[in-house]
Amino acid sequence: MAIRNIIHEEDDRLFKTSRPVEVFDERLHCLLDDMAETMRGAEGVGLAAVQVGVLRRAVVIDCGDGLIELVNPRIVGQSGKQSGPEGCLSFPGEYFVVERPNSVVVEAQDRFGRPFRVKGEGLKARAFCHEIDHLDGVVFKSKATAPYEGE
Ligand code: NI
Repeated sequence: MAIRNIIHEEDDRLFKTSRPVEVFDERLHCLLDDMAETMRGAEGVGLAAVQVGVLRRAVVIDCGDGLIELVNPRIVGQSGKQSGPEGCLSFPGEYFVVERPNSVVVEAQDRFGRPFRVKGEGLKARAFCHEIDHLDGVVFKSKATAPYEGE
């Protein structure tokens, strides 16, 4: 495992659409392992492959209750609304208020290509939405309703 370099706003790859993962091999496993280590090293709760410069549809999330790997994820259900502060490892020190669904259901594949479904509420729903947006080149700032002026 290795910590990879996280790209920032000035890198236009951040705004590109990622391609689906088609091969579930050792290379993908290495990418996912590195993404988890990179996320933890940066004390984030989520990271998309594009943030380490790989334009493939893969995401890691850990909201404090265990690592979730999402390959080719898509949101298949959502309900409720939440409005709160959000940050991004590609925008260090920047926080904005973003409105998200309070609850989402995601369909994805695991690192071996097996399909599964996972539900997230609160912070986890926010993380799912934020990271899946990255796969379409969408960053949180573009959805902000206000700057976050909290402590
Ligand atoms: Ni982000």
